[in-house]
Amino acid sequence: MAARIIAVAGKGGVGKTSLAAAIVRELTRRHPGARILAVDADPAVGLSSALGVEAGNTLDDIRRSLSVGATKTNPDELLAEARFRLLDSMAETRGFAFLAIGRPEAAGCYCAVNGYLREAVSLLATAFDYVVIDGEAGIEQINRRVMERVTHLLLVTDQSRKGYSVIETIKRVADELVMYEQCGVVVNRAVRAELVADPCLAGAPLLTVIGADARQTRNDVEGGSVFDLPEAARVPRGAAEALTAFGL
Ligand SMILES: Nc1ncnc2c1ncn2[C@@H]1O[C@H](COP(=O)(O)OP(=O)(O)OP(=O)(O)O)[C@@H](O)[C@H]1O
Ligand SMILES: [Mg+2]
Repeated sequence: MAARIIAVAGKGGVGKTSLAAAIVRELTRRHPGARILAVDADPAVGLSSALGVEAGNTLDDIRRSLSVGATKTNPDELLAEARFRLLDSMAETRGFAFLAIGRPEAAGCYCAVNGYLREAVSLLATAFDYVVIDGEAGIEQINRRVMERVTHLLLVTDQSRKGYSVIETIKRVADELVMYEQCGVVVNRAVRAELVADPCLAGAPLLTVIGADARQTRNDVEGGSVFDLPEAARVPRGAAEALTAFGL
């Protein structure tokens, strides 16, 4: 089976990282033994703590360790090394491997790292069954084709006008630049769930509405990971509903 590549995108602060972490957790529960890779594609980081893992492997570390003394890293070497390190690290976590984009000090700008990330995602996908990407807020990584190979695009918004407008823009650009098979919307932190009556938002089906849940924020404040939340908490439940709607 070709890898299912699930990306979470949307405006800043709408719950992308929380949802991505809950999706990883649900996939490990549903598909024990599957090779699952969690990718923090946000240079501002956050997915590692949401998953309770060390930020360990970053793409930039791997790139740097290979490019010492060389002007250009051979992408095949980079990926062979990344694949090895990631599969090796899986044993230490709860059934998933973790890769972060890292801080691109050496690369000088994000464009270069986004380029590596795009290559890495499409090549690493051959070593994994499921890849979950927690994207940077906004449209940049869709524009830069980092998400090109994504098969399942999850648009997350809150109930704000701005949140809706961001997912509309992402959807519009993704229709041109992403080869997705399925796209769906999750409304998160809904304060008035009854206001979300439309079965279709931003031109994509509404997968689920997740209400505001104080346990989610409290767990974050206390430094807990998604594995510390009860399965019945709203975000984990919403993640499971979204996966079911996608047939995953
Ligand atoms: N359904 C919810 N109910 C209550 N709090 C939530 C809910 N979903 C997320 N949160 C909280 O909202 C905050 C922002 O969530 P999160 O970091 O997942 O958003 P994000 O979209 O990844 O943000 P950023 O764009 O900064 O990366 C966190 O404190 C998180 O615990
Ligand atoms: Mg985030």
